[in-house]
Amino acid sequence: MKATAKAPANIAFIKYWGKRDEILRLPVNNSVSMNLSDIFTTTTVEFLKNIKKDEIRINNETLSVKEKERIVEHLNRVRAVADIKDYARVVTQNNFPKGTGIASSASGFAALTLAAVSAAGLGLDEKAVSILARQGSGSACRSVPDGFVEWEAGNCSEDSFSFSIFPQTWWNLRDIVVLISKKSKRVSSSEGHSLTESSPFYKTRIQGMSDKIKDLKDALKNKDFGKFGLITETEALNMHAVMMTSTPPIFYWLPKTLELMLLTRKWREEQLPVYFTIDAGSSIHLICEGKSEKRVTKNLKDNGFDNFVINKPSRGTHLVDEHLF
Ligand code: DP6
Repeated sequence: MKATAKAPANIAFIKYWGKRDEILRLPVNNSVSMNLSDIFTTTTVEFLKNIKKDEIRINNETLSVKEKERIVEHLNRVRAVADIKDYARVVTQNNFPKGTGIASSASGFAALTLAAVSAAGLGLDEKAVSILARQGSGSACRSVPDGFVEWEAGNCSEDSFSFSIFPQTWWNLRDIVVLISKKSKRVSSSEGHSLTESSPFYKTRIQGMSDKIKDLKDALKNKDFGKFGLITETEALNMHAVMMTSTPPIFYWLPKTLELMLLTRKWREEQLPVYFTIDAGSSIHLICEGKSEKRVTKNLKDNGFDNFVINKPSRGTHLVDEHLF
């Protein structure tokens, strides 16, 4: 059976940075995110009797040995659950080409998981798909449910999964992803996670986490944008402070990243409610309400930031009828 899944990337307002278990990808803390409407991956999987190894194609690009291995390992997880031995043909398309500065292991592993479990004939529920996706890439488990999502850190693999806390229609937010550099990052997030504990600030970060998550969810519930934006921005700075004070330190920002961070704060002083968040890369995510979108994009263009993708909240990973082969 052939199956095709479409999965959104997601942006975390409360970040996942640090693992309790590297192999199972169990996070130290819960995280909260929103699925993105305009950055997504589509993947078709078919298990076949007549092929001698997994055949993997992503956007017709050449994959590194490491990238291929990570995908094969994930197919092995699905084969183990389904108790099958057949190799798979996997064709993936990202709606963002390589070298754009956008890389999403979240959408990639979420789409691969749902397509593979469906192609293997497994009737898994959303929780089980999220648990499997998490083992491919932690943040992928948040791309599975709809809209606004929380990832419960849990104590073991079976209780570390994501669920929807509000549907995509809950709040008309925007995440305007501003691309700063086309170069791929020098330290992958998987490597970065393992350095977190070497930062003297990491313990403090974790201690304040549950209050911060509660406050963020309250702001989301009450649609209190000022509070929501401020927690989101402060949280990103908190994570980057840990990154920069790890041994060895990791710097994801480029000069243009900082320039836009400062501009965002200036725009706020000019009564434009917009906040930023940044993941493990140089791109900036500008968070605003739908009614501020036009002003934010005009400001971006006026300041020479022309390369951006406007996202609304979106549904999670789902099957589609159009196969890629
Ligand atoms: C900074 O999910 O990419 O984007 O589990 O090793 O694949 P792995 O890590 P990944 O880490 C994402 C880190 C982050 C924060 C976040 O999305 O929560």
